[in-house]
Amino acid sequence: AKAPPATLFLFGANGDLVKRLLLPALYHLHRDGLIDEGLHIVGVDHNPNTDEGFATRLADFIRTLPQHNEATGGQPLDEALWSKVSKNISYVQGDFVDDATYTALGERLARNGTRNAVFYLATSPRFFGEVADRLGKSGLLKESKDTYRRVVIEKPFGSDLASAQELNARLLRVMSESQIYRMDHYLGKETVQNILVSRFANGIFEAIWNNHYIDHVQITAAETVGVEQRGGFYEQIGALRDMVPNHLFQLLAMVAMEPPAAFGADAVRSEKAKVIGAIRPQTRREALSNSVRGQYAAGRVGEAQVPAYRAESRVAPDSNTETYVALKIMVDNWRWSGVPFYLRTGKRLRARDTEIAICFKPAPFSQFRGTKISKLTPNYLIIQIQPNEGMWLDFQAKRPGPTLEIENVEMGFAYADFFPMQPSTGYETLIYDCLTGDQTLFQRADNVENGWRAVQPFLDAWQDDAASVDLYAAGADGPRTADELLARDGRVWRKFA
Ligand code: BG6
Repeated sequence: AKAPPATLFLFGANGDLVKRLLLPALYHLHRDGLIDEGLHIVGVDHNPNTDEGFATRLADFIRTLPQHNEATGGQPLDEALWSKVSKNISYVQGDFVDDATYTALGERLARNGTRNAVFYLATSPRFFGEVADRLGKSGLLKESKDTYRRVVIEKPFGSDLASAQELNARLLRVMSESQIYRMDHYLGKETVQNILVSRFANGIFEAIWNNHYIDHVQITAAETVGVEQRGGFYEQIGALRDMVPNHLFQLLAMVAMEPPAAFGADAVRSEKAKVIGAIRPQTRREALSNSVRGQYAAGRVGEAQVPAYRAESRVAPDSNTETYVALKIMVDNWRWSGVPFYLRTGKRLRARDTEIAICFKPAPFSQFRGTKISKLTPNYLIIQIQPNEGMWLDFQAKRPGPTLEIENVEMGFAYADFFPMQPSTGYETLIYDCLTGDQTLFQRADNVENGWRAVQPFLDAWQDDAASVDLYAAGADGPRTADELLARDGRVWRKFA
């Protein structure tokens, strides 16, 4: 069903997020008939611009996207559709910390004739609290029986447990939890949403989804990109804060949570909060021995020679900020007792690959002693988040021939074989859910805080541990110490991609 008419205010309208992700998502939602043609898009930012100027800027940008480039097999922009969309695009120039801006937003809302409003904070995180306070003070967050007022906040939600709690408390002073949509774009990915469907719409997986049959779980988010233009931001953040309490824990929660009693926002988010809340706290010593920090040195990614992190713009030449992190995490509940979760993520790695590998326990004993076994590997179920979306099961098979030889083979489901995949940014589902009031795929305050609580011991231990990060050559699989983290437990990382 179409989302009802509303005004969508985009704070940070001239930023990258609006152009690269929100704009194409809004266009796709219109293309698929999922949003009312009367949806108003209002850009809010400090630069001077006009309504037409802003609409033109968006139009110019969307036409340059590869999916609209016929030369690369794209579909040209549907100009008739775009002209309908752009009729409702306008712009308000204003400072986020100036009360007058909010008066102007109220007037724009009245002029648009829609009473529902979404305030999307695509801004630097330092404005989250400031904007929320002013939205509250100006009365723009007052809902009525049939009018909603919602606020979308992009990550990062704080930079540690204390700042996340503070931000949540500040938001909750001016709005209720049901008005807050904390965005984690991993939840917009089809493959991430499919984890719960695979687990709970099928009979076969849940029966073996526990510590009787699963040896351990590996979650990998490998990137080939470096810090790009974000050196200044990344210096303060590092890989742990950037990826773990949010994206990687979302993957962990999807894999490890108990079946929710219903598929609704409260039930799903309560189960997630429980499982992230069950991550075992670590002493300082444990945190140090269960974590590896890496940083990329110069190297070669694919064909390209790339500089070291320390040589990137706005990065200190002696920076100890990690661009790679690997962690060993235990989830203390009945289902997962004794099953380690190994997490790793990094920039400038050999290949782009986000995957969850469920490693099953081996057969209890082998009748095939003395058999020629090439490449015997454990049974892995791979949930391939991106790219090459799909699921794969690694198992052993007899190589055809008169002698008994066992070899590793693979059974697979590739999305591309079953579903026509339209270009999408992952933001389509999330924006649609926000416009229709479904919070299932958004982070509740307790989800965010539990994530920070689980990584806080690592942050604390690293802070007063002067040891520098382990360097890895760009294009490698990560630092060698990450292999030792598993070797210690008699395990190995599955080769990604
Ligand atoms: C963002 C991080 O949240 O996620 C980036 O800030 C990272 O550093 C990105 O590159 C990864 O997202 P995706 O969708 O490319 O896996």
